[in-house]
Amino acid sequence: MRCTVFRVLPLLLQILVAARVFADLDADKQALLEFLSAVPHRRKVSWASNSSVCTWVGITCSPDASRVTAIRLPGSGLIGQIPENTLGKLDALTILSLRSNRLSGNLPPDIFSIPSIRIINIQRNNLSGEMPQLISTRVTVIDLSYNNFSGRIPPAFANLDRLTMLNLQNNTLTGPIPDLNVERLNQLNLSYNNLNGSIPSALNKYPASSFVGNLQLCGKPLNECYVISPSPSPSAAVPSMPGKRSKRPSLGVIIAIAVGGGALLLLLLLALVICCFKKKDDKEGTSVKGKGVRTEKPEDFGSGVQSAEKNKLVYFEGCSYSFDLEDLLKASAEVLGKGSCGTTYKAILEDGTTVVVKRLKEVVTEKREFEQQMENVQRVGHHPNVIPVRAYYFSKDEKLLIYDYIAGGSFSSRLHESRPQTLNWATRVKISLGVAKGIAHIHSAGGGKFIHGNIKSSNVLLTPDLNGGIAEFGLAPLIRTPAVPPRSAGYRAPEVIKTRKTTQKSDVYSFGVLLLEMLTGKSPIQSPQREDVFDLPRWVQSVVREEWTAEVFDEELLKDGNIEEELVEMLKTALACIARMPDTRPSMEEVVRLIEEVRPPDSDNPPSSS
Ligand SMILES: *[C@@H]1O[C@H](CO)[C@@H](O)[C@H](O)[C@H]1NC(C)=O
Ligand SMILES: *[C@@H]1O[C@H](CO)[C@@H](O)[C@H](O)[C@H]1NC(C)=O
Ligand SMILES: *[C@@H]1O[C@H](CO)[C@@H](O)[C@H](O)[C@H]1NC(C)=O
Ligand SMILES: *[C@@H]1O[C@H](CO)[C@@H](O)[C@H](O)[C@H]1NC(C)=O
Ligand SMILES: *[C@@H]1O[C@H](CO)[C@@H](O)[C@H](O)[C@H]1NC(C)=O
Ligand SMILES: *[C@@H]1O[C@H](CO)[C@@H](O)[C@H](O)[C@H]1NC(C)=O
Repeated sequence: MRCTVFRVLPLLLQILVAARVFADLDADKQALLEFLSAVPHRRKVSWASNSSVCTWVGITCSPDASRVTAIRLPGSGLIGQIPENTLGKLDALTILSLRSNRLSGNLPPDIFSIPSIRIINIQRNNLSGEMPQLISTRVTVIDLSYNNFSGRIPPAFANLDRLTMLNLQNNTLTGPIPDLNVERLNQLNLSYNNLNGSIPSALNKYPASSFVGNLQLCGKPLNECYVISPSPSPSAAVPSMPGKRSKRPSLGVIIAIAVGGGALLLLLLLALVICCFKKKDDKEGTSVKGKGVRTEKPEDFGSGVQSAEKNKLVYFEGCSYSFDLEDLLKASAEVLGKGSCGTTYKAILEDGTTVVVKRLKEVVTEKREFEQQMENVQRVGHHPNVIPVRAYYFSKDEKLLIYDYIAGGSFSSRLHESRPQTLNWATRVKISLGVAKGIAHIHSAGGGKFIHGNIKSSNVLLTPDLNGGIAEFGLAPLIRTPAVPPRSAGYRAPEVIKTRKTTQKSDVYSFGVLLLEMLTGKSPIQSPQREDVFDLPRWVQSVVREEWTAEVFDEELLKDGNIEEELVEMLKTALACIARMPDTRPSMEEVVRLIEEVRPPDSDNPPSSS
């Protein structure tokens, strides 16, 4: 008797185990069928309920055929929402690939928390909402890029110590980047979201392209983070902490950081500090020097404080601003861009006035010459398509120009950074015509002696109603041109690269490159990371020579319909502007006329609006 019991027990156990296996496989099958019935799909994904789940398209089972371990349905035309309590029930699943479908809505949280899940590839769908907060710590690959996820990256991502790849680019995620575990992480891409704050130091080793397209993100490998000082004290400049930022840094602090020992600011700040000290307890200003504030020329310091005239902004006629330099340096500021002439800041004064401040570097002229040039700028700058200088400041150590703040951004950023909502054809023509008129005005003023010298799309600023104005007129002669042409040489005429002398005809060339840029949607300037040089004029000429004209145009424009002829006419104008021989290029007056012929200004209803 006993013997038989011992023989029967294992058998019973075996049967029990087998039954459980079937139950689990059946449960997996049921979950998959529920998933598929809720999600419309292409015909080729047909799962027959009378056949084994392990033979279904896109399904892989464990080696003993006891559980479903992988689902791979890339590009299978799956449409709609993934239902909760379907895929999440597959608790032996290790790989889930649903990339390149049209899944939308929220991602059910039960998928991320499947304990066995290791690879999640759901990129290139249209999923939205927040990413699930709970996630299995065994995950090695997460790719949710090219969806529409919003909210923060879940803090739980910081605990994923087996993660090798994390791709979240092209979503609309916000907030800070969690302190990810980078031990095994060899691919990271968070680009093109709305993340903010500073990049955790452990992530410094990834390339800038892992983070680009998050305008409020700072720190290595992107731009430095600037700090905010609650009081106007230069020593408050320390790297900012994520989430601790309440206010933008003041222009004075930024400049102080940039200059390091810049005498002007030290003087001003010293003066401020001394004033405070005097008011408070009538102590000697010299005690400040003992506090580690470095000043190289103490004698300048005294004279700087006494001669009020030295710290004055020079206002141009018609300027309605009433702030002084001190107000300006106290304004909160952010960097708008760094160019060949210097750095540009957006400064918001205490009373809410917003201006643009350009800090010139490498100024080669003396004060007299500078003032003379500023007078020229003032005289010529009266034109709706030329951005006027409102005021300036000149001292030995610091040269500042003050402009109106123009809210529409630059032509360059609107062409290259805001895709797919780029400018339509009618708008591009309107902008280019305005810019052409502005340059023609500069060329005709002062008996034809003025040159712009630095025409490029980032110097074309747009008003909110998308009219273009040319900025930086008058600066080129003040600035030392670098010996090695910078990467921005993309706009420079061939003769300028050789002789380093600009002319009105070289302005025409640069404008021609700008026209090519708006026709092709390609930038003639390479990003700093790219080593290979892209010569836009030469590329266009070679494509056009082989009669593949349509190939050169921006795909976004081809959507506009019925504008091919206009595109070709504009292309001809651009090619005339970039003619090799300067004398054969048209004048800016002629260019204005040619653009008006391409698209008469009164036919301003964009055909794409229909
Ligand atoms: C499953 O059922 C379909 C009809 O519903 C039939 O055509 C097919 O032959 C069946 N397959 C198996 C393996 O029984
Ligand atoms: C993405 O989903 C949203 C709704 O969540 C919908 O309005 C939109 O049309 C979808 N986009 C595509 C490309 O399917
Ligand atoms: C992303 O979602 C927003 C709303 O949350 C919607 O307006 C937008 O169209 C979506 N983007 C795509 C590409 O579907
Ligand atoms: C990703 O986002 C960037 C910036 O918005 C855009 O240039 C790029 O075309 C996007 N990629 C796709 C496939 O949508
Ligand atoms: C990031 O953006 C959020 C709003 O989306 C804001 O509350 C937070 O203060 C920002 N953090 C930083 C460091 O700028
Ligand atoms: C991240 O994705 C963007 C596209 O959105 C791409 O341009 C960039 O090269 C990628 N960076 C890395 C490090 O893969």
